[in-house]
Amino acid sequence: MLENIEKLNKEILDSSAALKDKDSLEDFRIKYLSRKGLLNDLFEDFKNVDKSQKGAVGKALNELKILAQKTYDEKKADIEKSTSSESSNIDYTLPGRRFNLGSKHLITQALEDINSIFTRIGFKVVDGLEIEDEYHNFDALNTPDYHPSRDMQDTFYLKSEGKDMRYLLRTHTSPAQVHIMKSQKPPVRVIIPGKCYRNEAISARSLSMFHQVEGLYVDKNVTFRELKGTLDFFVKEFFGKDLKTRLRPSFFPFTEPSAEMDVECYLCNSKGCRICKYTGWLEILGCGMVDPNVFQQVGYDPEEYSGFAFGMGIERTLMIRHGVPDIRMFYENDIRFLKQF
Ligand code: DAH
Repeated sequence: MLENIEKLNKEILDSSAALKDKDSLEDFRIKYLSRKGLLNDLFEDFKNVDKSQKGAVGKALNELKILAQKTYDEKKADIEKSTSSESSNIDYTLPGRRFNLGSKHLITQALEDINSIFTRIGFKVVDGLEIEDEYHNFDALNTPDYHPSRDMQDTFYLKSEGKDMRYLLRTHTSPAQVHIMKSQKPPVRVIIPGKCYRNEAISARSLSMFHQVEGLYVDKNVTFRELKGTLDFFVKEFFGKDLKTRLRPSFFPFTEPSAEMDVECYLCNSKGCRICKYTGWLEILGCGMVDPNVFQQVGYDPEEYSGFAFGMGIERTLMIRHGVPDIRMFYENDIRFLKQF
């Protein structure tokens, strides 16, 4: 009997640390202290203990009972204290929870920057159409039937059965030039920002949707020099640095002469790096003097008016400005990326 008491004594001491909630405490009570519990069983057996041992066993039994009761009472008090403090321990002076405000997407910020740079030098911001017809997207821009950009592989055509024209998702913002010139007489000085679509294989360098900003300035005696001055001003404002630029001869069906503009590599200061492929230059836009054939399409007299136009890819330019290595990052909406801007 004494051995049994000793064993329970140890058991109770060992189990006391695990009594952390009401359920485990209740199990403890049932096991040891209830009417059918282990202690009561021992008290029952006490009757059969040999007289000579009654003194020692009785003492040990009483001590065991006291230990069990004390353990129970103390743990009960602890549990009650901790549950009641949860509700009464509110600190009303703590500041409220902060809700994180969203921020503008990098593309939106860039479009706003670009709009503000050009409006400061007299350009108006206008909208074009995302769904265009073949005439505005290609023919009116002097782009012949056999031009590869008209190919089904490059352009998203819409179902146009029963219509007298094929419709498509515009492949560039240039068709907006045609709408604007057809709807007003010179002087025209506008930029047209917006989405464009091309049937590209998606990669680190190309997506099937991207943004461009188109610029158009038509008046009497507009010169190529003004085109360069305007673009240099833009580069300085947009990159926040007086970066060198250069114009390289190029070809676009709707401008003559045509050029592409490069900026000094922003990342390596034209020393040569991976991003500029060790050339020191990065291409940011196409531009040129509006082709007389385009003027004829919109009813402007090419003898009387001249003008310049340019078209710039926004994602591309931002990749250069921030060293973004993969164009897909703009649209994955990974907060860790977006938060940096
Ligand atoms: N539309 C051309 C493109 O998507 C870019 C461009 C080049 C626009 C020259 C122009 C321009 O207005 O004059 O590649």
